Amino acid sequence: MGLFHFLRRKKQHLPFSWEPTMPVLTTPSDEVGVDARRRRPDVPYLLPYDEQERQRLDFQHFLLRLVLSGNCFAPVHDLLCRGGNVLDVGCGTGKWGQELATAYPKAHVAGFDVEDMQRTASPLLNYQFYQGNILNGLPFASHTFDYVHQRLLVAGIPLDTWPWVVAELRRVTRPGGWIELVEMGTTFHHVGPATQQWIAWWRAISALRGIDASKMSQIGLLLKQAGLWNIRAETKTLPVGSWGGRIGKLLAQDMLSGWPRTRPLAQTWLGVPAEAFERVMSQLETEWNSYHTSYELYLACGQVGSHE
Ligand SMILES: C[S@@+](CC[C@H](N)C(=O)[O-])C[C@H]1O[C@@H](n2cnc3c(N)ncnc32)[C@H](O)[C@@H]1O
Repeated sequence: MGLFHFLRRKKQHLPFSWEPTMPVLTTPSDEVGVDARRRRPDVPYLLPYDEQERQRLDFQHFLLRLVLSGNCFAPVHDLLCRGGNVLDVGCGTGKWGQELATAYPKAHVAGFDVEDMQRTASPLLNYQFYQGNILNGLPFASHTFDYVHQRLLVAGIPLDTWPWVVAELRRVTRPGGWIELVEMGTTFHHVGPATQQWIAWWRAISALRGIDASKMSQIGLLLKQAGLWNIRAETKTLPVGSWGGRIGKLLAQDMLSGWPRTRPLAQTWLGVPAEAFERVMSQLETEWNSYHTSYELYLACGQVGSHE
């Protein structure tokens, strides 16, 4: 028996305390965009899904871990040392959850995403992936998880759906458990004309899907409105460009890898000529360094009341 089958068999006997309560999704037949990268036709999510995007997400994960000096903003270290069920919604390649599962071997971590990005089964026995669409609800029973983490789903959740999504995160969280949201918006400081232009295109593209990243500074308020307590919210202003040292360089690299892939949407949805788009892209890096551009990252966590 191959190692893969052995691990799969072992997984089936894990004492996981949750099982999907609805059928799991599968990846639909490939829908290739004009940039030859696949986007799903069945969700509003704006970013493509391919090998290059998987690499960008892993790169971005390491950048965020550096910015946060760790993987968790919520005060969950003691809880995870004892064990506990963790859910990572929109887990992408699964790096965050797999690192958590490694650091806290008594915890059980579930990654959930509309795409099966993991590609290979995780060798970790305390990490499991579930495929599904958060906008259809989470396939888990109420009060299943002690810690629910959702990072960078802004490009996939229409603004008016956010309260419903947070209510769904809360439903699956146990009394006394924590919810953590990490998001990026469209707030930059010290911006030049090329950056302003790209932000305007991105806002217009997003608006066509009901998405509004400019409201992500409100994620702490969203948790409050969902009835959570012990809320902690923080805005980190990060440098963009080599003027800002290591973090600045890494964030610029992340943006220079991600932003050009909005070109097909700008072209087909907004009618932006390819040359105009490329001209803006080519000016960004120099502009960030001469303006000393910075960018806001939002972190928020809160606890579900223990008497619910
Ligand atoms: C920008 S990536 C962030 C991935 C991961 N959270 C991270 O920080 O590395 C957004 C992820 O959300 C997933 N996603 C988008 N819309 C979704 C939906 N409706 N339901 C579940 N996952 C979704 C995408 O497939 C993608 O993996």
